[in-house]
Amino acid sequence: MISLRHVSRTFQLKDRLVEAVKDVSLEIDRGEFVIISGRSGCGKSTLLNLVAGMVRPTSGDVLLGDVQVWKLPDKQQAEFRNQKIGFVFQFNSLIPTLTVLENVLLPTIFGSADQRRSAQDRAMALLADVGLSDKVNDHPNQLSGGQQQRAAIARALINQPEVLLADEPTSNLDVRTEAEIMELIKALHTRTGLTILMVTHEPELIEFGTRSVFMEDGRIVPHL
Ligand SMILES: Nc1ncnc2c1ncn2[C@@H]1O[C@H](COP(=O)(O)OP(=O)(O)OP(=O)(O)O)[C@@H](O)[C@H]1O
Ligand SMILES: [Mg+2]
Repeated sequence: MISLRHVSRTFQLKDRLVEAVKDVSLEIDRGEFVIISGRSGCGKSTLLNLVAGMVRPTSGDVLLGDVQVWKLPDKQQAEFRNQKIGFVFQFNSLIPTLTVLENVLLPTIFGSADQRRSAQDRAMALLADVGLSDKVNDHPNQLSGGQQQRAAIARALINQPEVLLADEPTSNLDVRTEAEIMELIKALHTRTGLTILMVTHEPELIEFGTRSVFMEDGRIVPHL
């Protein structure tokens, strides 16, 4: 489902180069729930953004299914991301001026007419799944951090993506809320068989996935 083949990404920072991801090769099958852990700055977000097609590899190939996103024409790239990938961001990403329901519906603006028609019902069902039925008309600042992340998860799923990517979805939460969100993602995985790739700097979260991978200084390293 996800293939990274000798993928590297270098950033130019003023007068020096930062190698954020170094020669990473990784195969993730459909239905896996893979958790990548590693210290802050080891390249986790960069790796996830490479999979999402939001960061272009300096070298190597990134494939989703059999598609190399960067080989598609611009317009198709955006459509491909919108349809195939759900993304939960590391920091608060809800639009403050929209209600919870409107936030969840936002990615459907670009969807097919068919999808838009059923979107409202699907959004309500997803919000029920994540325990926010009574918050649909509230604005993000009226929600707790955990509730905001639940809404962000519902939004990531609204277009029925094939892959869910999550960048430290619990990073700003207390330990108990973190466990609740992880249980929610795990239950989602068990119920739907969705392919999930999540990154975290907290090694104790890897037990929630079906496989874990460690990163250190831009590389994937063997388990200790
Ligand atoms: N757009 C960018 N421009 C320049 N350098 C960048 C950019 N994005 C990332 N980097 C650098 O690449 C390295 C890896 O960053 P990345 O954000 O991938 O780490 P991370 O593992 O997600 O860290 P954290 O756990 O703190 O989120 C860092 O040294 C960072 O400064
Ligand atoms: Mg990060």
